Amino acid sequence: MRLVLLGAPGAGKGTQAKMLIEKYKIPQISTGDILRKAVADGTPLGKEAKTIMDKGELVPDKIVLGLVEERVKQEDCKKGFILDGFPRNTAQAEALDKMLKDLRMPLDSALSVDVPKDDLMKRLTGRRTCKGCQQMYNVYYSPSKKKDVCDKCGGELFQRGDDKEETIKKRLDVYDSSTAPLIDYYKKKGILKSVKGVGSIDEIFKKVCSLLERE
Ligand code: AP5
Repeated sequence: MRLVLLGAPGAGKGTQAKMLIEKYKIPQISTGDILRKAVADGTPLGKEAKTIMDKGELVPDKIVLGLVEERVKQEDCKKGFILDGFPRNTAQAEALDKMLKDLRMPLDSALSVDVPKDDLMKRLTGRRTCKGCQQMYNVYYSPSKKKDVCDKCGGELFQRGDDKEETIKKRLDVYDSSTAPLIDYYKKKGILKSVKGVGSIDEIFKKVCSLLERE
């Protein structure tokens, strides 16, 4: 299965991707996670990316395309992959098509997770992630039992630097102007599937799996 996950910031792409990895045993390629790791490691790329991410803007296509190409060529992607947060604009989508055509690994589906705007701000301002195992929580919807402590591994929970209200507004604007047009892009290619991303995480996951398994 070669899949692109589309959806606004906070739609639940990462949440669903983590469950898809478990079920289908294919890797998640999250450009956001790769960039955040580069920022945490303090690499030159990370330093450049940090300023841009803190503003809620998109990192230059050239950087992101290089990261994705390097990743999809790895052995574990031969049986499939889940692209989460990539592509983010039409130029990235076209470059991805070309890259995957050259590798003879065309996409099977693009799944759009649709969530009303009003829910997104609360999901993002409430998100907390474990520094240790990366388990995700939400102070409003799915809090940890003990404040700021991971239920799974006891690690410390943190709030992402770009989950501040002003940055979230910018990210949502960038989604509308640059990323939302990809819904039409994949519809025209005949590989778009859509799911309502509201309700329990498990219910959404069931719908996602049934959509992906449908011919
Ligand atoms: P990225 O890391 O990709 O962030 P994003 O697209 O903004 O998406 P999020 O990770 O914020 O949300 P999500 O949809 O994964 O939701 P989640 O599952 O976490 O990108 C960050 C930045 O990196 C960009 O702004 C850009 O600068 C840069 N970047 C990344 N890729 C790039 C690219 N290709 N090109 C250029 N720049 C790029 O869920 C959110 C919260 O909601 C959680 O707390 C979760 O527990 C909760 N939740 C999930 N599902 C539900 C539910 N059903 N009900 C209630 N709560 C729920």
